[in-house]
Amino acid sequence: MQRELAGFGVAADGGVCREALTEIDLAARSWLCRLLPAASYEWMVDDAANLIVRRAGTVPGLAPVMTGSHMDTQPMGGWLDGAFGVIAGIEALMALDDAGIHTRRPIEVVAWTNEEGTRFKPGAMGSSAFAEPGRLAGFLQTRDSKGETFETACNAAIERILPSAKRSPLGHPVHAYIEAHIEQGPVLESGQCRLGVVTSIQGVRWYEVEVRGVSAHAGTTPMQLRHDAVLAAAELVVRINEAAAARDDGNLRLTVGRFDVPGSSINTIASHVGFSIDLRHPSDAFLADMEELIKRVIRKQTRCAAEIRTLMQRAPTQFDADVLSIVENAVAATGAPYCSLGSGAFHDAMYVAEVAPAAMLFVPSRNGISHNPMEDTDEADLVLGTRALAAALVTLANQ
Ligand code: GLV
Ligand code: MN
Ligand code: MN
Ligand code: MN
Repeated sequence: MQRELAGFGVAADGGVCREALTEIDLAARSWLCRLLPAASYEWMVDDAANLIVRRAGTVPGLAPVMTGSHMDTQPMGGWLDGAFGVIAGIEALMALDDAGIHTRRPIEVVAWTNEEGTRFKPGAMGSSAFAEPGRLAGFLQTRDSKGETFETACNAAIERILPSAKRSPLGHPVHAYIEAHIEQGPVLESGQCRLGVVTSIQGVRWYEVEVRGVSAHAGTTPMQLRHDAVLAAAELVVRINEAAAARDDGNLRLTVGRFDVPGSSINTIASHVGFSIDLRHPSDAFLADMEELIKRVIRKQTRCAAEIRTLMQRAPTQFDADVLSIVENAVAATGAPYCSLGSGAFHDAMYVAEVAPAAMLFVPSRNGISHNPMEDTDEADLVLGTRALAAALVTLANQ
């Protein structure tokens, strides 16, 4: 099933490109809806196009236990980031059916919309709107690089899925949430752990920097008379990285992952550059200090006009102690070596944790690689993670 999902958007190099709410993402969602028998499952789609399937509980009126993750990928991503958590949830439901296990509470599996934040910024739109429906209004007019709004893409996705799912309100009470995910880093593998109990997610801030110069002829404009936006932006990228390196306590992550020169040409001095900054650290105070430092570096440059704006800001997330102990018991019961760790990547769980007790479970990433076509995990570890997830879900759903 996991490999079948990867078929939606698979690239020649084995990577997967299934950006949020693209045709291929919608096709994958329709495929997902066919995995479970319509007679015993209820599929729902909400205003943020989150796709949720519910397995009924035996006691009416109890809030569901929820699991899941996202199906959108990076523009050149791997086959497991997000996809593992959705498929692990579906596999868990199938295993409960096969074993004839019924739970007091319903169990829901969700595929959150636009976690990656590459087509529409910021990331984790679906889960953040689920946690706080008022946020959706702020996302609707966000445009992708082709000018399509999130609203248009969302509505098309809802229409497309409606034959297989009923429309449901955005957000509902959740008894507890567990997200299974690949680690996307090297900690489990290097510690020879096959499973990870995820205690927290580090804080993250996303910025957009705009540098404006003056476009002019490359052959006629003397060097000292230029306002070259590429040069100014390149200097900024280096200075920001140097300033960050000087403060790094070992836990800082700073990345300029996007650097755009719109309308660029070989013989024209660029008038405009936009670049992104992704900043992460386990301490919010540290992030605030770094933000000040970056702003100072930007203010100090004089070659061109430059502005910085925040796209997203999330303080670190601490997961719920009770859910963590249930996840840890389920992980320990597999008999496989495991450890506890914090997450370097952000996940939908950081938003769900605002409204429900939440935790995460990791499986190792081969060579620690993710956001890369080479992303991979041993099949035996995917199975182990799914087993532990199913066990933890049953415990929570019988509370
Ligand atoms: C999303 O996957 C992130 O952590 O950047
Ligand atoms: Mn992910
Ligand atoms: Mn990702
Ligand atoms: Mn993520």
